[in-house]
Amino acid sequence: MSDITNPEEQTEEQHSPPPEAGARELPLVALRETVIFPEMIVPLQVGRDKSVQALNKAVADGSAIALVTQRVADTEDIRDPSELYPVGTLAKIAQVVQLQDGTVRAIVQGQQRLRLLEFVTAEPFILARVEPVEEQAPAGLEAQALVRSVQAQIEQYVQAGAPVPPEAAVAARNITEPGLLADMVAYSPDMSTEQRQELLETIDVHERLKLVSTFLGRQIEILELKGKIQSEVKSEMDKTQREYILREQLKAIQRELGEDDPQQAEINELREKVDQAGMPDEIKTRATKEIDRMSRIPSASPEVGVIRTYVDWLVGLPWNVTTDDRLDLKEAAKILDEDHYGLEKIKERILEYLAVRSLAEKIRSPILAFIGPPGVGKTSLGKSVARAMGRKFVRMSLGGIHDEAEIRGHRRTYIGALPGRIIQNIKTAGTNNPVFMLDEIDKIGMDFRGDPSSALLEVLDPEQNNTFQDNYLEVPFDLSRVLFIATGNLLDPIPPALRDRMEIIQLPGYTQQEKIEIGKRFLIPKQLENHGLTPKKLEISDAAMVELVQAYTKEAGVRNLEREIANIMRKVARQVAEGRKRKVTVDGKKLNEYLGPPRFEYGELETEDQIGAATGLVVTEAGGDVLSIEVTHMPGKEDFILTGQLGEVMRESARAGLSWIRAHADELGIAREQFEKNTMHIHVPAGAIPKDGPSAGITMATAMISAFTGIPVHKDVAMTGEITLRGRVLPIGGLKSKILAAHLSGARVVILPLKNQKDLTDIPEEIRKQLKLVLVSTMDQVLENALTRKPKRLETKAGENVEEDKPADKTSAAPDKMRRGFPGADQPPAIASPPEAGAGG
Ligand SMILES: Nc1ncnc2c1ncn2[C@@H]1O[C@H](COP(=O)(O)OP(=O)(O)OP(=O)(O)O)[C@@H](O)[C@H]1O
Ligand SMILES: [Mg+2]
Repeated sequence: MSDITNPEEQTEEQHSPPPEAGARELPLVALRETVIFPEMIVPLQVGRDKSVQALNKAVADGSAIALVTQRVADTEDIRDPSELYPVGTLAKIAQVVQLQDGTVRAIVQGQQRLRLLEFVTAEPFILARVEPVEEQAPAGLEAQALVRSVQAQIEQYVQAGAPVPPEAAVAARNITEPGLLADMVAYSPDMSTEQRQELLETIDVHERLKLVSTFLGRQIEILELKGKIQSEVKSEMDKTQREYILREQLKAIQRELGEDDPQQAEINELREKVDQAGMPDEIKTRATKEIDRMSRIPSASPEVGVIRTYVDWLVGLPWNVTTDDRLDLKEAAKILDEDHYGLEKIKERILEYLAVRSLAEKIRSPILAFIGPPGVGKTSLGKSVARAMGRKFVRMSLGGIHDEAEIRGHRRTYIGALPGRIIQNIKTAGTNNPVFMLDEIDKIGMDFRGDPSSALLEVLDPEQNNTFQDNYLEVPFDLSRVLFIATGNLLDPIPPALRDRMEIIQLPGYTQQEKIEIGKRFLIPKQLENHGLTPKKLEISDAAMVELVQAYTKEAGVRNLEREIANIMRKVARQVAEGRKRKVTVDGKKLNEYLGPPRFEYGELETEDQIGAATGLVVTEAGGDVLSIEVTHMPGKEDFILTGQLGEVMRESARAGLSWIRAHADELGIAREQFEKNTMHIHVPAGAIPKDGPSAGITMATAMISAFTGIPVHKDVAMTGEITLRGRVLPIGGLKSKILAAHLSGARVVILPLKNQKDLTDIPEEIRKQLKLVLVSTMDQVLENALTRKPKRLETKAGENVEEDKPADKTSAAPDKMRRGFPGADQPPAIASPPEAGAGG
């Protein structure tokens, strides 16, 4: 046929092929993933029914069989010649074994290539019309040269370590027929099915030799390369090394094949990123330098990964991304009020800061510290500040951080080094001026790994933090635009140097009324939404809220209140899901049904006036609390036993109290033998919780005096104050928390140091109305208000006491004694509450 064919002729030809010489009809077996060549003797496992029948037919007729490979191996049922390759092999069946499971094992011997013309039938097996192909051996010098070259290549291939038996080389040398020699290469496992089929379809022997020559050439190169790499890496191969070598081989092969160099591509990509990151010039120079270094080291070096990670960090940081602050104060105030009830002072402070910002662009951000018990809204206030200012918010907990490197990062020389948490969080924020909350700053640790608080100093110091140095980054980052807010439960554990740099804002806790308001306005709506409920479905009555606050929670904040509200909602949500239609109203009585019996009794005070017990006020991590201090005395030689995990300061304060009592035994009506014969035991429950501080001084002294004299202490009096050896009462901290706790516990009188008077402005009006606050400056005044009756002065033999117990008084006795004389030769104690509201003393 000429090159230029009439298309019509061609279609004609396809429709009714002319009878070819030698065309014959043969049963056909379709092959999957194998190609069989002339002269090949191979076992065939035949499973498909059509194929089994075709084989059987050929055996029955004693005819040959056509073996043609499927284009798609997965095709189950072949119905059309187009599903097969056009060239296959005519084969003789040497042996057939029928197996138990219905499949057949046949040994076939390839005879000749064939061309598939058409299917005569496709059922019940394929009977195809095929045309055997006659091969013509090429002649001439060139062909001879090709044959030799292929023979040599096969030898070389085997020597380089081809996955074929070594005899193959000998066999190749003995085959002189060019077509067969080329076909023999199909035995190589390196050849894919597609390549084999291509070989089969290449009828022209000359072309076929060229094809295998190219194939062999490439395989030899791959093998040699492999050998080269293997000889370079001589060390023992463990699993990772093996993987690494394979990867290197892959890369080497890709390089040889002219495929792209992945490292170069990566370097280009990094350079592009650096160009687009908009970083300051010096940082850009630094990044570029690192990338240059990367391009010089071999891609196998682990250093490449280290540099890549480093440059990624440089690129990822928000060097120049700053959000605009919302400077509209009205809007900001609205947002703050939307999120939190009360907290007026704090909101004001935040608005002041914003006001200053709107006037002066470049003021330094202050470092705020919110200090207060759990659940008073420190964290959520921080979030709200961010929202009000229109800034991003990130939060990092310092609790339990011991290692400086957690804050400032590890040097890059460490394996797996990363920047510290400050830089990590800045990256998360994506801006260089987020509100950055440092939670639990009072829980920061210190040990041999370094002192994280010193690293924090640098973060929080406005003089230094515009060039904050992270060990990993090695280049300074400007933190001066970040608004840092620290939070903590207690002020004392915060290292003084840190405390100094922060503006402390105390959140002492909420009154009952405030809690109820927060509950109604914020927690209930929030939880309704969380539980997919509406006010139409559920209402919690005011009475229930009071009961919740008083009998189901005991806390300074509102976290447990929120949890109890959520508990109720969960149960109601379930009822609604189960088909309840009517609105649920939870009132005081129903609480029992939803939450079980009340957990706390309102009022923790003694129910009766007690001898040897007095109520003190303390501040713990959980806020203010009342504790009942118990004293008893028993026969014994020691003068003192103190239990209840008391710290050193508290023990000393108890001793000071006892010394004062001994010095004033006569006035207090305590016989002096009592001290000699008795051992005093002071216990401060709850025994398992460590306590310290001087503020229980007057309480311990009062309890001791009550125990010695047998005079009861008023049951509804709570007190706090430090005692000195001379019976003075010194001021204490955490006043608001303590008074809130006293009020909650049901106390009616609170005795406190006169010097704390200035702090009383913090106390909400409603509480001042309900409590009688007695300000005192001496121990005598304490006793006057705490004991149910006056101690009776002992009539002692003159001089005796003076000699043993009060040597100091010998010289400067008179004026001091006058002041101290019970009852109150001193000025009367000040009463801070309006007289009409004052309650029983
Ligand atoms: N004044 C308030 N107005 C509205 N909701 C409040 C108020 N105070 C606290 N909350 C809510 O109480 C919950 C607990 O607050 P948050 O988690 O901020 O407490 P915290 O002070 O950070 O406690 P912790 O010391 O345990 O971390 C939050 O759901 C918060 O919204
Ligand atoms: Mg918190």
